[in-house]
Amino acid sequence: MRLLQTLSNLLFFLLPWIISSAHLKAQSSIPPASSRSLDALLQDYAFRAFLRPHTGIPYHGDVPSNFTGIQVTAMRLRSGSLRTRGVQAYNEFQIPVGVVVQPYVERLVLVYQNLANWSSFFYPLPGYTYLTPVLGLLTYDASNLSATNLPELEIKASDKPILIRFPQLKSVPLGSTPQCVWFDLHGLAEFSNLTSDNVCSTLQQGHFSVVAESSAPSVPPPPPDEGSKNPTSGGGRGDGKEDDKSRVWIIAGSVVGGLVLLVLLSFLAFWVQRYKHKNQMQQMEKAAEVGEALHMTSVGNTRAPVAMGTRTQPVLENEYVP
Ligand SMILES: *[C@@H]1O[C@H](CO)[C@@H](O)[C@H](O)[C@H]1NC(C)=O
Ligand SMILES: *[C@@H]1O[C@H](CO)[C@@H](O)[C@H](O)[C@H]1NC(C)=O
Ligand SMILES: *[C@@H]1O[C@H](CO)[C@@H](O)[C@H](O)[C@H]1NC(C)=O
Ligand SMILES: *[C@@H]1O[C@H](CO)[C@@H](O)[C@H](O)[C@H]1NC(C)=O
Repeated sequence: MRLLQTLSNLLFFLLPWIISSAHLKAQSSIPPASSRSLDALLQDYAFRAFLRPHTGIPYHGDVPSNFTGIQVTAMRLRSGSLRTRGVQAYNEFQIPVGVVVQPYVERLVLVYQNLANWSSFFYPLPGYTYLTPVLGLLTYDASNLSATNLPELEIKASDKPILIRFPQLKSVPLGSTPQCVWFDLHGLAEFSNLTSDNVCSTLQQGHFSVVAESSAPSVPPPPPDEGSKNPTSGGGRGDGKEDDKSRVWIIAGSVVGGLVLLVLLSFLAFWVQRYKHKNQMQQMEKAAEVGEALHMTSVGNTRAPVAMGTRTQPVLENEYVP
């Protein structure tokens, strides 16, 4: 009985977790781990562009040949100047005054990324098509320009948002409207409306693009380890879809299965409790049949059963004597 209750309680606590993990998987917005390692790689290659860096000047970095197409730029700034002056144009980004860095550093580096034809490879977004390349803006401490694997700093715009002016959008698929998408450093996607024709806005760093819903998922998320071999092979396409489908089925199946199990367990627990109750009642009835419940009383130091009353009042014989 206790075990059953514990089991069903456990299931009950696990259920939200099962559902939420299913939700996360279904959303598929967690990019392959490789997008974080790409950030680290590009930080390294962007910093290498600095030979004798002037502040406020963008320097273009080279990327390794296995990532041809991606562009990186690095710009060193005093955090005070970022806050009081902003940056009028850093490629597509327009940084207003009032942007602060956390934790405070004296100098910082703004790394710009343009993922070009690698956008959907590193940031797969099933159900959407990219109308622009994914652009990244990430902030690092500038105190050691040969450091690698640097953690990002945080930047926060307060008065006005940072604007991203995409030079041009691909033509929007019929019947869908373009939307801005922002990926935070954990790769979670957040959608918002464009502020004007081809401008998105943000208060934070991350990766940005403009997307439109596509009727059929046109960009299957490639498995991260196979991508380097042949990311656009036709063979992978169907497999990706099958994979997605079967994953959805597995998730749905386990959620439904969990629910059914929970219901069954609750029924079982309820039934066992009723049975126990019934049993108790039966025993009490039996006891009542055998005789009246024995009442205990103290006689001296010992407790002994006593009869509280008798059914037939004793009648003195001599009363019948006329
Ligand atoms: C690409 O090249 C860089 C530098 O040569 C290397 O560190 C990285 O692991 C390579 N990545 C892939 C996916 O091959
Ligand atoms: C992007 O284009 C370059 C050539 O410009 C190519 O070498 C690279 O493989 C392409 N990347 C992807 C993911 O298709
Ligand atoms: C800068 O970083 C490099 C690479 O991590 C390290 O070897 C070097 O000691 C660092 N320099 C300083 C001054 O911290
Ligand atoms: C985006 O715009 C649509 C109409 O164009 C509007 O209905 C919707 O509420 C807007 N969403 C946000 C988050 O502002």
